[in-house]
Amino acid sequence: MNRIDKIPLSEAVLREKEAQYCSHGDTAHYSPKPKFFQGCEGSFLYDREDKPYLDLQMWYSTVNFGYRNQRIVEAVIAQLEQLPQLAGQYLHEEKVLTAEKLAIECLRAFGIKGRVQFNVGGSQAIEDSIKLVRIATGKSLFMAFTGGYHGRTLGASEITSSYRYRRRFGHFSNRAHFVPFPYCYRCPYDMKLESCDYYCVKQFERLFETEYNSFWDAKAEEPEFVAFYVEPVQGVGGYIVPPPEYFLRLKKILDERKILLVDDEVQMGFFRTGKFWGIEHFGVKPNIVVFGKTLTNGLNPLSGLWAEEPLISPQAFPAGSSHSTFSSNPLGTAAALATLQWIEQQNYERKVAESGAYFLGQLEDLKKRHTAIGDVAGLGLALRIEVTQADRITPNRALADRIFELGLAGGIPTSRGPMGLVLNVVGHYKNVFGLAPCLDITKGEIDLAIELLDWLFTHCTEKP
Ligand SMILES: Cc1ncc(COP(=O)(O)O)c(C=O)c1O
Repeated sequence: MNRIDKIPLSEAVLREKEAQYCSHGDTAHYSPKPKFFQGCEGSFLYDREDKPYLDLQMWYSTVNFGYRNQRIVEAVIAQLEQLPQLAGQYLHEEKVLTAEKLAIECLRAFGIKGRVQFNVGGSQAIEDSIKLVRIATGKSLFMAFTGGYHGRTLGASEITSSYRYRRRFGHFSNRAHFVPFPYCYRCPYDMKLESCDYYCVKQFERLFETEYNSFWDAKAEEPEFVAFYVEPVQGVGGYIVPPPEYFLRLKKILDERKILLVDDEVQMGFFRTGKFWGIEHFGVKPNIVVFGKTLTNGLNPLSGLWAEEPLISPQAFPAGSSHSTFSSNPLGTAAALATLQWIEQQNYERKVAESGAYFLGQLEDLKKRHTAIGDVAGLGLALRIEVTQADRITPNRALADRIFELGLAGGIPTSRGPMGLVLNVVGHYKNVFGLAPCLDITKGEIDLAIELLDWLFTHCTEKP
């Protein structure tokens, strides 16, 4: 296929039109001149001249199973030909079967019965979870982590720690208390995991020690903040994996203080970390699980949540409690069902553990060759490279930005010919590459990624 022939307008003309007609408000615009792409396949994106770019972020973990995954694409085409449109007041098979598969995954993982409801994006599913918590508790104060990200709708941005996302919009009324995330490489308490004995959890526990700490009414035995929103591995915050016992210790306190656990799997769900749900690594049972992104492998905006039965039974959350025209739309649920069937036919638990270990080993070697890499770590194929000054700790955002831009410029010499690299800059200090490669990435592609990163770190740190 000649992709260039398909595009009648020059890039200059498109940029002029973009400048005139497109709001910037609905994008992240990391680059002053965002790139146009026009093709994709597997782990690669192609620019308007058909030049390849290895993608290490896969639409922020939305295309875990590869661009244009044929099996999933075919299911959408079949749905397009049979029943592409249907109002949400009616039922269709794909909705029911998708909900069943997700509820069964939660039953398997947590041993709890529950139900699934759909919406169109991660933020909207977070909004639905907020409604569930509010109905169940009658309260609207929540806890969440510093560096956490739960979306940018008004409700979701209240529980997202970055003030930048709220500053210009006022408050919507869910205010959250933000608890320091266990970011051990930069411990908020300046401790070391080897000797801290989870000091951070002890600090959290102290919030409930006396009513004067403002979190707990000992007479009524009631908390004021009624749900804790967590990501199993912090995504936008910098692909940070909490230490092994953190969630277990935290959950014990949440149970004692009657605080619900809402597990936001929007970015880490569906095997990004090597388990179906990221939280499964940590042995805790959430009350609500929120998911989105790769539920459809990025083929349709569909998201949703699972909640334990008492929170979401038809009595507790009757019809109309939350509804969007497009929630559980047939194309989305067909894509989701095909994605879940695809997952069943693979062995991602083994595959992601193996490729993640290989990738991390290569990143550790890369770190030895570059003093600008302060930390590499990961869980499964959720990997991180923390870009620093040569002291391996002071964040170096400017260098991360340079590497990001040069990767996107393309044409980097590699053993496979000229190539670009698509990265995602994340982190509390915006100095981390959060790597979310295709879960089917090959060993050869991981080697290519290392070749590209090596070249980029070398060229961007060289003195002129
Ligand atoms: C953990 C997490 N929760 C929620 C969201 C919001 O999802 P959406 O962008 O689909 O609204 C995101 C998006 O990046 C996310 O990473």
